[in-house]
Amino acid sequence: NPTVGLVGWRGMVGSVLMDRMQTEGDFADIQPVFFTTSSPGAKAPEIDGLGDAGTLQDAYDLDALAALPIIVTAQGGDYTGKVHDQLRARGWDGLWIDAASTLRGNDDSIIVLDPVNRDVIDAGLGSGVKDFIGGNCTVSCMLMGMGGLFRNGLVEWATSMTYQAASGGGARHMREVLQQFGDLHTEVAEGLADPASAILEIDRKILAKQRSVDLDTTQFGAPLSGSLIPWIDSDLGNGQSREEKKAGDETNKILGRTAENRIPIDGLCVRIATMRSHAQALTIKLTEDLPVREIEQILDRDNEWAKVVPNTKEASSLDLTPVAASGSLEVPVGRVRKLEMGPEYISAFTVGDQLLWGAAEPLRRMLKIAVG
Ligand code: HSE
Repeated sequence: NPTVGLVGWRGMVGSVLMDRMQTEGDFADIQPVFFTTSSPGAKAPEIDGLGDAGTLQDAYDLDALAALPIIVTAQGGDYTGKVHDQLRARGWDGLWIDAASTLRGNDDSIIVLDPVNRDVIDAGLGSGVKDFIGGNCTVSCMLMGMGGLFRNGLVEWATSMTYQAASGGGARHMREVLQQFGDLHTEVAEGLADPASAILEIDRKILAKQRSVDLDTTQFGAPLSGSLIPWIDSDLGNGQSREEKKAGDETNKILGRTAENRIPIDGLCVRIATMRSHAQALTIKLTEDLPVREIEQILDRDNEWAKVVPNTKEASSLDLTPVAASGSLEVPVGRVRKLEMGPEYISAFTVGDQLLWGAAEPLRRMLKIAVG
């Protein structure tokens, strides 16, 4: 079994990755070596059926890393920036499988989402590509749901308006959202308990609290609970956010498309106070006029995780939500209908667990592919 270095296995994405690897029995095919940036020498985690995993190695020890044929990291972009290029500079030619965005745009990296681009991954492995990077969570979740249309060349252009969960920011962001909800509730608990109290008075108190410096907004920089933030990631200076740029760039890269056959994909990315599932509303111009039933079949059959939700009020309200999608590998896609603009214009809505298909699952599956 190949030795695989695991870095960043304790963080949020890393924990989901470890959990999925244990559930799927992936540790039977590898010899894991656990690394740490903070506590080398401490005991490595226990994995069922593995026996003693020894002690944690220093994640900045380039000699130890360079001895490995495969490294999987969910440690984050800073770590990748510090370590990856140094390893390559000393001639290390192992496989680097990474959740961070640092290397995604490089010409010699591949963004992994194998249910959608196994052909691109296989071609890359065949031609000696060594860096395999997980995609932006919003893009990966969108493509898992909408893959059928994109992979069959049925999309002329698409625009996506996102509803992104707190987890995209990190663990502390999830806590902040809940803390804000709690603080807001505390502010009006008395009035809420009294059915005769005036709702506008409650609303006034909530707004005052949301605008008050007492509400902790350290992570998001603005109140999120009971509100939203229509900007995600850095400002590119041209009116576009970095998250919005990723939608077009990464979708096309995953699909193996270049400047010549690029599909225009653009829209606005918005943070809302949900926990871990990213949703998005899409407007798509199809390359041909297809009946809705056929579109739904193409979506549903594309991969085993995309699941079409009938375009009814009841099904959409119950099965097409962050609450329904969280913790599940299934990616519901629904609200498919023709728009007034013309027979080639459709709407769609999709939602996916940002920590599963959006982060950990493509890495886990890439490791499986790599170890054969
Ligand atoms: N940039 C994403 C977000 C994280 O903030 O939701 C996942 O790539």
